Amino acid sequence: MAMNTAFLGLLQLLLLLVPSPLRDYLGARPGDHHGVNYPIILQGGFGCPVLEARLTDAYTPSHPRCGALKGKGWFKLWNSTVDLLNHDYMPCFAEQMSLVFDPATNGFQNRHGVETRVPNFGSAYGFSYKDDTCPFCCNVRLRTELEALGYRDGDNLFGAPYDIRHAPPRPGQYSEVYTEYFARFKGLVQQASEKNGNKQVIIIGHSFGGRIILDFVNSTPLEWRKKFIKHLVLLSPTPPTGFMDVITNLIEGPRVLRFPNVPYLALRQMWWSFTSSLLSLPSSMAFGHDPIIITKHRNYSTYDYPDFLAALGFSLKGVSPLTKLPSPTDMRIDAPMVPTTILNGVGIETTKQVVFWDSNFDVSPELVYGDGDGVVNLNSVLAFTKELERKQASENILFKFVKIPNVTHGDITIQDHSLRIVLAEIAEANS
Ligand SMILES: *[C@@H]1O[C@H](CO)[C@@H](O)[C@H](O)[C@H]1NC(C)=O
Ligand SMILES: *[C@@H]1O[C@H](CO)[C@@H](O)[C@H](O)[C@H]1NC(C)=O
Ligand SMILES: *[C@@H]1O[C@H](CO)[C@@H](O)[C@H](O)[C@H]1NC(C)=O
Repeated sequence: MAMNTAFLGLLQLLLLLVPSPLRDYLGARPGDHHGVNYPIILQGGFGCPVLEARLTDAYTPSHPRCGALKGKGWFKLWNSTVDLLNHDYMPCFAEQMSLVFDPATNGFQNRHGVETRVPNFGSAYGFSYKDDTCPFCCNVRLRTELEALGYRDGDNLFGAPYDIRHAPPRPGQYSEVYTEYFARFKGLVQQASEKNGNKQVIIIGHSFGGRIILDFVNSTPLEWRKKFIKHLVLLSPTPPTGFMDVITNLIEGPRVLRFPNVPYLALRQMWWSFTSSLLSLPSSMAFGHDPIIITKHRNYSTYDYPDFLAALGFSLKGVSPLTKLPSPTDMRIDAPMVPTTILNGVGIETTKQVVFWDSNFDVSPELVYGDGDGVVNLNSVLAFTKELERKQASENILFKFVKIPNVTHGDITIQDHSLRIVLAEIAEANS
């Protein structure tokens, strides 16, 4: 009880600490409902959704320790990095989080005896950063600002957390996980609309969350989108035209999943089992024939992925990496064909080439930088937005691309100057 009161007091104090210019700018105080117009669905980026697991009798752990939770019901498999480390659960985490290829369905699924689910579907609170180094990550500040306008989770504010391990299917491909997820997302949009006097819905997403929104919308019938969607606001979306960090994550292990004191390499095998690991590989459309991976005797461009993956030693039991690999020429950019605003940071050093002078992929590469937001390359954002612009313009549908100088991929909804611009664009979409 005492803890709770202290906590609430602290919370109020923290709210007071949120810089007042933002509130003045929006002309809103907590409790005001002027700012609420259309219901909003807010999506976090890659490190943000939570994953729960349940181990059944069919599970054979590689260490007895990993079987400790067998038969004990649902637990948070991917929630707090500190927890995992404190309980020495990392190898178990990697094993239970990994996907395996099932030739029967030609798809990736959980290891035998591991069941998983993403909790909190429907809630804008279904996203959280996995340690306390970044209290405002996962749209926390943006969500607070929306709440200050009068938005309330479950009434007019929602979220559609997803399973980060799976990639949305490429056109013509099938994904059981995404078939189900997109159906739930569609239900959520309709429910959000119904709850709010049948108003259309604004969908906002950061990074991978933006990509998912785009693929979700593109999976729905045109009439449905036009009926239910007011506007998409995509904040530094990871573009289908690709970005170089996808390559560095493949080589070095996932930097997007941070574990203090655990080398990224320790999670590389797990990472390779995710279908999301090859989503957004740099595409020929944006990177052409440029050498993006440079070694002593051989350079690799976007046309050389099969050779590069072989040289890297990319392997998964029973799977040819080519199963997961899109052909560099089958790039297709579908436009959502509903009003869309994309905001992206620029002017930040962003890896455009990785150099391995001694051709050993297990050591950190030398990096060559170009323009971007520190994660996503600007050339790719431009190729992507140009396609969207062209397609939306052909039917006179609003498309707006806003470059924000000097803000990084992760900071776009955290820094004052960019958050202000983001909020202004949301306000415009919401008017
Ligand atoms: C999940 O992680 C958050 C933040 O790290 C922590 O506050 C919370 O207690 C965790 N929940 C569970 C059930 O472990
Ligand atoms: C690889 O690319 C670099 C940088 O563009 C170039 O200097 C080098 O000559 C190329 N190496 C090979 C083997 O083609
Ligand atoms: C860019 O942002 C950094 C960190 O917020 C700041 O210190 C720097 O002055 C900014 N530079 C420019 C040119 O705005």
